[in-house]
This record gives sequence, C-alpha cells and structure tokens, in this order.
Amino acid sequence: MKGDKKMLPVLNQLLADELTAISQYMVHSEMCENWGYPRLHTAIEKQAMDEMHHAEWLIQRIIFLEGVPVVNKLNPMKIGKSVPDMISNDEGDELDAVKAYNAGIKLAREVSDNGTVELLTRILKMEEGHADWGEAQRDQIAQMGLPNYLANQTEGPAS
Ligand SMILES: [Fe+2]
Ligand SMILES: [Fe+2]
Repeated sequence: MKGDKKMLPVLNQLLADELTAISQYMVHSEMCENWGYPRLHTAIEKQAMDEMHHAEWLIQRIIFLEGVPVVNKLNPMKIGKSVPDMISNDEGDELDAVKAYNAGIKLAREVSDNGTVELLTRILKMEEGHADWGEAQRDQIAQMGLPNYLANQTEGPAS
C-alpha cells in the first residue's frame, strides 16, 4: 500500500530516534551493571528492548507503506557520566520522543493515514511511560539523596 510522501520521512526520522535510543540505553544499562547497580541495569535494559520493538514496528510500517527503512542513520549519543546524568539525558530524549510522536500523529491524521495514527499512538503511550519513569527516579534522588537512591539499586530488578 503506497504511503503518503510526507509521512515516510517522518517515520524514518522516528526510526533514527529509536535506533539511537537503543544504543544509548544499552550503554547506560551496561555502565550501571558495571558499577554494581543491577536494578538500574534491568530497568534501562527493558527500556532499550521497548525501543527495539518500536524500531521493529516502524520498519514494518515503512515497508508496508512501500518506503525504504533507513537503518544506518543515528542521532548524536548523549552518554551520561553518572547515574543522575544518564537519567536526565534519557528523560530529555523521552520528552523529545513524546513531542515527535505527537507531531507524527498530527501529520498522519492530516494525510488520513489512520493505521499510522494507531501505531504511533501505541508507541507514544510507551514513551510517556518511559519519561514518567525518569521523572520518578529524579524525584527519588531529590527526596532520599543520591547515596540512598544508589544503595537501593544494588539488588533485584527495579520496577
Ligand atoms: Fe521508543
Ligand atoms: Fe522510550
């Protein structure tokens, strides 16, 4: 099914955002593992896997719309040097993703592509959940202090 000419570049930009997030989160997740924070490792690794699903769904949609998925384009990485930096970099990217998906949904509505509206809405809700997770971590750090927060990350999966 032929997709709208304006929709395909937007889907490919969202794909680049997702592919960038996968790499950034994998690095953050492994840095946390290396520091001995398995709960953070697991939580961030799960987000990287969510982003992998988003990339997969976008690739499916682009192919369905007879476009060519661009998988060799990444945005600059924002690797944090500390846990609070990682969390705020990732949260900033999630807030950007919420904006980008809302803009994509607006365009998909304008070109009457409701299948894409449905897909982008499903991803948008997951990005809102990721942003909310980052906000909760920042709140916890502010409320209990960084050493207490980090002491909580040393065993078991974080929810
Ligand atoms: Fe995503
Ligand atoms: Fe996300």
